[in-house]
Amino acid sequence: MEIIRTVKRLEEICRAAGESGKSIGLVPTMGALHAGHKSLVDRARKENDILVVSVFVNPTQFNNPDDLRTYPRTEEADSAMLENCGADYVFMPTAEEIYPEPDTRVFDLGPVAEVMEGAMRPGHFNGVAQIVSKLFAWVRPTRAYFGEKDFQQIAVIRKMAALEGFDFDIVACPIVREADGLALSSRNVRLTAEGRAIAPQIHSLLEKSRQLKEQGLKPAEVARATAEAIDSVAGLTTEYYQIVDALTMQPVDDWSDAGAEGTVGCVTVYCDNVRLIDNIRY
Ligand code: PAF
Repeated sequence: MEIIRTVKRLEEICRAAGESGKSIGLVPTMGALHAGHKSLVDRARKENDILVVSVFVNPTQFNNPDDLRTYPRTEEADSAMLENCGADYVFMPTAEEIYPEPDTRVFDLGPVAEVMEGAMRPGHFNGVAQIVSKLFAWVRPTRAYFGEKDFQQIAVIRKMAALEGFDFDIVACPIVREADGLALSSRNVRLTAEGRAIAPQIHSLLEKSRQLKEQGLKPAEVARATAEAIDSVAGLTTEYYQIVDALTMQPVDDWSDAGAEGTVGCVTVYCDNVRLIDNIRY
């Protein structure tokens, strides 16, 4: 496994792989790797000749400086894990290497980026589009892999790819959970023991909310009741819970209004001042 620090070397390797007809799998990450990332890496390893993983805490997607400052950084453990998983190349650049000049591009991401995370974290998705578009342009992967925990992010990346004319295969991979249901996240390490003990209730209450749909409640009613149930757990505070079309990310009035992909309920919850996100398909 080679650790790459420069864009020049990354482009050189990926160009040579492309020219020799090899497929390239790209897994973009911000490091602090856990079993959720491992599932993406393992899948990308199986499906491609060359596996490139990027590890970069992208400053332009953080709208909260404290979140950027405290984001876990575990470069050595990440390299060891990726070596074990059989990655060929790990791209670990500095911020100066990625952004020698400030990136002033503003992507016209439209409605998918305006709701939920887009509404709560102004500029976040534009920052994601900036870094992922750079990685796509340098690597030109056959397939790029993203986790469904960040469900809306995948819709935004698909939109960015369409805008930029990248026709790579964007592969959405299922959420990986702890045995008690908590969605794996790099932020989980910041939970106290008390927070860690209550956080799995987010997933169990989302699962329970499926029964409300079966009882005939409309999407907005299910969302309201579920947010109330989460808020009634001492230590959990919902920022938003919305049930949206799984492709357009727009709220639906009725279950039957959703397109081919159906609906997804997306939630953000504060637990111990840690912002956790999760989702469930209905
Ligand atoms: O999901 C993430 O970890 C990040 O948003 C991504 C896609 C690696 C871009 O920095």
